[in-house]
Amino acid sequence: MNIIGKRYAAACLFFLFSAGFSGAQAELTEQQTLGKLLFFDERLSEPDGQSCASCHHPDAGFADPDTNLPVSEGVIPGRFGGRNSPAAAYAVFFPEFSYTNGVAIGGQFWDGRAANLTEQAKGPFLNPVEMANPDKATVIADIQSSSYIELFEKVCGPVTDIDAAYDCTAEAIAAYEGSSELNQFTSKFDMVMAGKARFTRQERRGRMLFNGRARCSQCHLSGGMMGMGGGRGMGMGGSSSEPILFTDFRYHNLGLPKNTEYPLEQQPIDRGLGGELGIAAENGKFKTPHLRNIALTPPYMHNGVLKTLKEVVHFYNTRDIPGLWNPPEVPENMETRRMGNLGLSSRDEDAIVAFMMTFTDGYVPESSDAGDNGGGHRWRHGRR
Ligand code: HEC
Ligand code: HEC
Repeated sequence: MNIIGKRYAAACLFFLFSAGFSGAQAELTEQQTLGKLLFFDERLSEPDGQSCASCHHPDAGFADPDTNLPVSEGVIPGRFGGRNSPAAAYAVFFPEFSYTNGVAIGGQFWDGRAANLTEQAKGPFLNPVEMANPDKATVIADIQSSSYIELFEKVCGPVTDIDAAYDCTAEAIAAYEGSSELNQFTSKFDMVMAGKARFTRQERRGRMLFNGRARCSQCHLSGGMMGMGGGRGMGMGGSSSEPILFTDFRYHNLGLPKNTEYPLEQQPIDRGLGGELGIAAENGKFKTPHLRNIALTPPYMHNGVLKTLKEVVHFYNTRDIPGLWNPPEVPENMETRRMGNLGLSSRDEDAIVAFMMTFTDGYVPESSDAGDNGGGHRWRHGRR
């Protein structure tokens, strides 16, 4: 975290001195550069044609750019996983998975089944519904015939052992995922926290609701109530040094309906964390995602059942009003205290959505932002 914190500070400084924004990222190390080449290499699937970026694209906050399907199609047509692609950006901030005294924290995937990014990155190449390589040797052979084999050998050494080369591949990808390219902290939210931009009236109202009556921040931690009136303090956490990520790193069952769309209609019940651990008390629980770049990553939730941010907020607001929503896929262990019937008006819902729209990276403050006008924003998405 410290390294990222320092990079962030460097990126911010650079930002202050540069008119354009795309150059505002810190240089990548050799290992990260290798990881980036691997992340975008469509030759590393079997057949060729799919890279990590196919389902985790920079223009979509490093989540799936296809918003038509609730889940992602693998390189072999007609093969689908059972879950919505989360963002690979900011995933580095989830601590290693742990389960102590009945509380699960951190980990990668919606159910935490990979301890960390390196372990996660070993999965997709060999997953039959993703990049579908028959074995590690196939992946390493593709790397050996690639244009970046020299860099690979510089970082990983000459290929003598397939397992070691494969582990080094995963480590390089994880290093890239930890770089400032995926963890930019350049949203309007960050600019406002740093005193470089101002929320509109509606965004400010949305923030108050998010942190207050709508209870979102009880799970999507938002830097606490400090500076609630739109005060200062850095997006990286103000007085504390922790960055604001809008997650508690924990697992909850929101009582979401089953997604009955193609191709999920035939899928068995998804028990999430409970299925992974084999513990009934955890059935239906999924990891609280961070909300950075959330405007870029529809559809929403582990099964993509909610299509827009407005629909997400409406679900939290009205889940428990009879007749409005299909029954929960997993009715046990449901969160009842902090959601279900929040009594928000449609205008309140819109304000919360407007606030979440400020979490998109690549915000360019207007010169008027320093003054009294919060209108007329321009966004530029993070580019590779
Ligand atoms: C066919 C689409 C697809 C491809 C290709 C793919 N992923 Fe994913 N990725 C997913 C899906 C779906 C999930 C969630 C699965 C789950 O939770 O069970 C996921 C989860 C992740 C996560 C966990 C994020 C979190 O917050 O839990 C990371 C990190 C990630 N992928 C990185 C990668 C990398 C690195 C590669 C290439 C080696 C890759 N993915 C290839 C679809 C894909
Ligand atoms: C009890 C904890 C909790 C509360 C309260 C809560 N969330 Fe969530 N949120 C979660 C969890 C857990 C998920 C993932 C659930 C799943 O997919 O099964 C989630 C998912 C989301 C997503 C979708 C993220 C994605 O990548 O698909 C959005 C957007 C969101 N929440 C916004 C909000 C807003 C806005 C509020 C307040 C109105 C709120 N949340 C209140 C825990 C919570």
